[in-house]
Amino acid sequence: MPDSAVSTRNITKFYGEVEALRDLSLEFPRGQLTSLLGPSGCGKTTLLKIIAGLLEPTSGEVEVDGKTVTGPGPDRAFVFQDFALLPWATVLRNVAFGLEMRGVGKTEREDRAAAYIKQVGLGGFENAYPHELSGGMRQRVGLARALAVDSDVLLMDEPFSAVDEQTRRKFQEDLLALVQNENKTFIFVTHSIEEAVYVSDQIAILLPRPSRVHEIIRPSINRDSATNIRRDPEYLDIVDEIWDSLRTYVE
Ligand SMILES: Nc1ncnc2c1ncn2[C@@H]1O[C@H](COP(=O)(O)OP(=O)(O)OP(=O)(O)O)[C@@H](O)[C@H]1O
Ligand SMILES: [Mg+2]
Repeated sequence: MPDSAVSTRNITKFYGEVEALRDLSLEFPRGQLTSLLGPSGCGKTTLLKIIAGLLEPTSGEVEVDGKTVTGPGPDRAFVFQDFALLPWATVLRNVAFGLEMRGVGKTEREDRAAAYIKQVGLGGFENAYPHELSGGMRQRVGLARALAVDSDVLLMDEPFSAVDEQTRRKFQEDLLALVQNENKTFIFVTHSIEEAVYVSDQIAILLPRPSRVHEIIRPSINRDSATNIRRDPEYLDIVDEIWDSLRTYVE
């Protein structure tokens, strides 16, 4: 596979007696979006945290650009499923936080943060606190924070789960534009089949207990016009195909 930015090699993870991941090997190419799709509890967040270096695998390893991951690093940014915002800090400070950690000076980091706050549609909320925002707005803050650090690898854990359907569709379109315009490696967790097919170059379907790769699908959808993707016969076929392949595993 060409230019794989991130590889996981034979990752196994136990939490005590619970085997969350078994012998999981995947390649994540640069400039593309790979989705991890699977039912709740199948280890998606666990795998993202291992790639982020926030959690150690029991065995196996992660490589980023050929180097083994030993902990978190500025090359990888994480958008958390549960926001993980600092409740005592304003939107501006939260978005600038990753840059603060990297030692970027106050003026520069606040300028960059302000630009990304506008990009995710939160202009005017720079001085608001997380508790003053809706769930969807908090997710946008998390997204802006991950974008602001300009990492090569973006790890996104169900970043659109807390927003209404219209906003979600807008976010999906924005994400497609981002993948096209930035040569980053996007690793995106979702349990929506439609969302995975809409946004992904590659979909790794995971089965639970313990999690393992069931199938890898590469939709070849014409994405020239984001509005027509959902009517593309290829889109509809792949959604059906994935559902057929998963339905026997849904209890
Ligand atoms: N800190 C932990 N301690 C013990 N078990 C854990 C821990 N974190 C996760 N697990 C277990 O590992 C398995 C995988 O969990 P994980 O959170 O990675 O799944 P997920 O695919 O992200 O689920 P969801 O779609 O609900 O977010 C589950 O069985 C879960 O109960
Ligand atoms: Mg999860």
